[in-house]
Amino acid sequence: MSENCKTYYLTTPIYYVNDIPHIGHAYTTIIADVVARFSRLKGIDTFFLTGTDEHGQKIEEAAKKRKKSTKEYADEISGKFKALWDEFEISYDKFIRTTDPEHIKGVQKAFLDMYKKGDIYKDYYEGHYCVSCESFVAPGQLVNDELCPDCGRATRIIKEESYFFKLSKYQDRILKWLKESKPILPEAKANEVIRFVEDGLKDLSITRTSFEWGVKLPKEINDPKHVVYVWLDALFNYLTALGYGSDDESMVQKYWPANLHIVGKDILKFHAVYWPAFLMSIDYELPKKIAAHGWWTRDGEKMSKSKGNVINPKEVADAYGLENFRYFMLREVPFGADGDFSEKALIDRINNDLGNDLGNLLNRIIGMAYKYFDGKISSENVEKYYPTELNEAKEIIGTIEEKYLWKMQTHKFLEELWKILSIGNKAIDVYKPWELMKNGEEEKAMALLGLIANLLAMTSVYLYAVMPKTTTKIAKALNFEINTKSFKEVNDGELLEDFVIEKIPPLFPKIEKPLMKKKEVVKEPDNIITIDEFFKVELKIGEVVAAEEVKKSKKLLRLEVDLGEGKPRQIVAGIKEYYSPDELLGTQVCVVSNLKPAKLMGMMSEGMLLAAKDDEGLNLIRPEKRKKVGTPIK
Ligand code: ME8
Ligand code: MG
Repeated sequence: MSENCKTYYLTTPIYYVNDIPHIGHAYTTIIADVVARFSRLKGIDTFFLTGTDEHGQKIEEAAKKRKKSTKEYADEISGKFKALWDEFEISYDKFIRTTDPEHIKGVQKAFLDMYKKGDIYKDYYEGHYCVSCESFVAPGQLVNDELCPDCGRATRIIKEESYFFKLSKYQDRILKWLKESKPILPEAKANEVIRFVEDGLKDLSITRTSFEWGVKLPKEINDPKHVVYVWLDALFNYLTALGYGSDDESMVQKYWPANLHIVGKDILKFHAVYWPAFLMSIDYELPKKIAAHGWWTRDGEKMSKSKGNVINPKEVADAYGLENFRYFMLREVPFGADGDFSEKALIDRINNDLGNDLGNLLNRIIGMAYKYFDGKISSENVEKYYPTELNEAKEIIGTIEEKYLWKMQTHKFLEELWKILSIGNKAIDVYKPWELMKNGEEEKAMALLGLIANLLAMTSVYLYAVMPKTTTKIAKALNFEINTKSFKEVNDGELLEDFVIEKIPPLFPKIEKPLMKKKEVVKEPDNIITIDEFFKVELKIGEVVAAEEVKKSKKLLRLEVDLGEGKPRQIVAGIKEYYSPDELLGTQVCVVSNLKPAKLMGMMSEGMLLAAKDDEGLNLIRPEKRKKVGTPIK
């Protein structure tokens, strides 16, 4: 597949701008970066897309909460994603934002085409919606009748006019595609999706009217109160980024269909069911592969803002080195499975895999090259003396790409690559170049160093996409360049001819203790409010100017309370069991004065008295000394 294609188009999800980038976003983006770099190294014309998803109710609400305009807020967070990817030297070709005018135009074109085709009709949506996932939840999928099955949060019931997409019409074609083209990686994840489709696809609500932050419907449809459902909007980024819907669609011709969408398992359904259906509706080819990875946890626990255990990828990279971090993430977890981040696991990988296996082999060859051969190594007799070792290594190189890399099995890819390093380390221990030299077998010792240098070169070329800077340093120490030409040579099983070794300092100094600053986790209880929130409650001193029992009620008294507003307020209070009307007359009380009026036993109550109640009964809260009526309580 991939190695024969001329172009390769791959994408990450576009990230919501309601949250700053964390390790999960970094993981997806780094895998994509590795595939993109590998593909380019092979000489394939590669296009790598990432970006931010900025519309929808969730973003509108997040901005409101921070008292920012939605666009201003989206600009800020989108900027943070872009800045982090730039700092991480992610080799994306385009960073798309769904607020880009070209994207909006493309979404409107797609909507109109689907509409004209007869795939969109107007109706009414009544049901559950999860704002966090931005997804409609069918009654049968709800957990405990109200929770979202994907994120576990409470859903909201919405009831509004909506346009629907005829998803049901595409059920059979989607099923056939899933079963025959097998687009999902890892393949084991396909079953879930297939089952979901087999259970029956309902038409999908694709517009909302209860908020405004979204793409307006195409003007031809003339229905200004609707905005496009954020998932339809978002998924089309993969096409609009190439110019779909603009005057110049040459990039679409060149790169579509996408070779690979990389996503987290949380959003596989959107990519493997809704997206292909939309594409079928506008008669576009379907993506070749959709790879869904698992979930990162920290020290065995789910990461969440309230737990304060979210990992900031920049902190990890600053402490341990960006490329070591990249290696760790790709090596530590089987793609598709959940992975756990712990500093201990990261340190072990750096000290063992990188330090002992890779770094040590490089140090050994630098040392021996100078000790025995003045830094110069030739590959001339490698095949003659070490055919077994060489063939084992070539065999690995010959299989890992197809078998693992293009299937996103990066942990296996790296594991196999490390076998080449252990062939090298073992060869030194077995053939003992120091003894060969002592016995006058110089040619055989030179060939051994030639073997090691070639094993290191092979590994570096294949590791380049994961650790570009580190492997470039290794290549420099061996005096060769990692590029499409050397990739091809290694790939073809050719040996590099000779090496002039350059001494470099150790690449992976041993890490003795954790390097990340321990943050005191300050747990914010859920019920904390800010002072601004507190001041939203208006409390005032009032005086009871009239009081009577409410007939037929065991609990209620009807009071008239003067708050200095000219006219006293009627307040109905549940204090009949504790106070008689006479006791209250002329006394002062504390009143919540901006409470929304409510009807109690048919009477309006325009406020609430403050009181404290325990086993011994109820007491009203009163000022210590008489105050002027209407005095605010602060
Ligand atoms: O879903 N572990 O955006 P999003 C691993 N805008 N990966 C994680 C992760 C974790 N703990 N948390 C997040 C959206 N991710 C939509 C996508 S695409 C047309 C629209 C990664 O900001 C993972 O890749 O919620 C997941 O799919 C993605 O972030 C979700 O990012
Ligand atoms: Mg999410």
